[in-house]
Amino acid sequence: MCGIVGYVGRNNAKEVILDGLTKLEYRGYDSAGIAVVQEGKINIKKHVGGIENLKNLIGKDPLKSHTGIGHTRWATHGAPSDINAHPHTDEDETIAIVHNGIIENYIELKNVLTEKLNIKFKSETDTEVIAHLIGLYMKDSDTLEDAVYKATLDMRGAYAIVAISAKDPDKIVAVRKDAPLVVGLGKGSNYVASDIPALLKYVKKLYLIENNEMVIVRPDKVEIFDENRRPIEREEFNITWDADAAEKEGYEHFMLKEIYEQPKSIREAITRRLDESGKLKMDGIALDYSDLNKIRKIYIVACGTAYHAGLVGKYLIEKFAKIPVEVDVASEFRYRDPIVDDSTLFIAISQSGETLDTLEALREAKRKGARILSVVNVVGSSVARESDDVFYTWAGPEIAVASTKAYTTQLTCMYLLALHMGLTLGRLTEEYFNSFMEELLEIPAKLEDYLNNSKEIEELAKKLYNRDQVFFIGRGLDSAISYEGSLKLKEISYINSFAIAAGELKHGTIALMEPGTLVLALATQDFLYEKMLSNVQEIKARGAYVVAVAKEGNEAIEAQANHVIYIPNCSDGLTPLLSVVPLQLFSYYVAKERGCNIDKPKNLAKSVTVE
Ligand code: M6R
Repeated sequence: MCGIVGYVGRNNAKEVILDGLTKLEYRGYDSAGIAVVQEGKINIKKHVGGIENLKNLIGKDPLKSHTGIGHTRWATHGAPSDINAHPHTDEDETIAIVHNGIIENYIELKNVLTEKLNIKFKSETDTEVIAHLIGLYMKDSDTLEDAVYKATLDMRGAYAIVAISAKDPDKIVAVRKDAPLVVGLGKGSNYVASDIPALLKYVKKLYLIENNEMVIVRPDKVEIFDENRRPIEREEFNITWDADAAEKEGYEHFMLKEIYEQPKSIREAITRRLDESGKLKMDGIALDYSDLNKIRKIYIVACGTAYHAGLVGKYLIEKFAKIPVEVDVASEFRYRDPIVDDSTLFIAISQSGETLDTLEALREAKRKGARILSVVNVVGSSVARESDDVFYTWAGPEIAVASTKAYTTQLTCMYLLALHMGLTLGRLTEEYFNSFMEELLEIPAKLEDYLNNSKEIEELAKKLYNRDQVFFIGRGLDSAISYEGSLKLKEISYINSFAIAAGELKHGTIALMEPGTLVLALATQDFLYEKMLSNVQEIKARGAYVVAVAKEGNEAIEAQANHVIYIPNCSDGLTPLLSVVPLQLFSYYVAKERGCNIDKPKNLAKSVTVE
């Protein structure tokens, strides 16, 4: 969704801001803009479409300045257009702001500003309201920060706002409430951004700004204040990723790079949690026997791909720890008055840690007394900060909108979490744990091997890319993976795909099977293998074209399926980490054949910070 970059320092602000915005393109946006302080005035350039359009608009204009802000906008209030693009200014054009989030009472505020104060609005955005409010308060304030502070008192909603003033050229003022904001710490240059990847090239140290805090950023000084404007000391956060982590490194798309990074990221997620003697060390998780013994119910709540990781998590926790688990889509959980109390463990799963629905569901569970544990990728994100226990996935930056390595590391974390719970509660023997861990540790190498020999998926995609609809079926853990396979395909190739538990087919969906209907059938679970063979037989009898996914050695399915993709052999419980990968590759190559914008599919954003 929207992205923010701000710069104040000795260098040319335009270069840093355009570069930072490019790094945030992956979040999804439909217009971009920049404002700098130049010779006592605000100079703004903004354009609908990509950053290339903005660069063309800027053309040879040096926009020479040491202070500026930039934005990529994902339209919410008002269509994507030059006028609605950020930055926005007050009437006198002495201040400029960019904003991520939504101002809920903007209509009320806009009415007051237009009717009582006769202010003329240029755009349809809620953001312009903020600009006029700040402009208004500037008239009787000593500083930009005073005016920004007063404006925030009028606003309801979620925001990260970054402001500059023509009258105070060496300063950026930023505030946040429920929208991420970080400050990058350089030498004689400081930075503001909504996301760390924008700053990877420039800084190794950050301040993570908390809710309701204001930050004043100058070239040599950064000051943070709480909501009562008292100064705050903040510990520096060290960035461990290097700038390459957010580059394509020779791959055609980020998605492909991230698919190929999975052996490494899964290995990292496991080995970080093992001590020298092979015992689990659950960094960030303080759940001991007495905590776990109190838990009567677990909710796993998430959206999209993270929700699909939760479906596997339910299976694992119930199997290893024997605690009942419900998995909910976050946007539903928060509106259904779920039964939650202090014997509930709420597990939020989120790559970005900023998904608003997940965050609000978490808050709802917290209000009702649940203990909050999160499985998150982005360090210091809102979900992480608001949780009692945090288990980082350590996947590194995931840039493609379609989640791949974040998903498999979420799965890895769910394995470790479920094993930890089972062991601590004494519901799992040391022996079982040791042999399961041994096999889990072999998965990255198996996956590497599979990826090195996966050319057939590209060939298959070339043959099948032209379908209008695709079905994904499976049983048990395979059913959870078929949901993920289906989501991956539809979001990047725009093919209408549908996943269903194979046993449910007969209860309605089989009516859609016709000669040639493409079905991807996952059949990796030994104890359900024969049942799956029957399901495949049923759809074959209606003429479906079946591509099966099975474990090496389980060849009986060749008699039924038109094509079989074999994944390396492993225990049933571990197949999700392997079986999802051919589905990711299939989606990727199908989307490529169809000429789709793979890393930035239409209408989607990397982090969904609106309801
Ligand atoms: O950042 P989150 O994990 O909370 O995001 C949740 C979903 O928006 C996300 O998984 C989405 O479904 C992906 N585009 C799937 O590839």
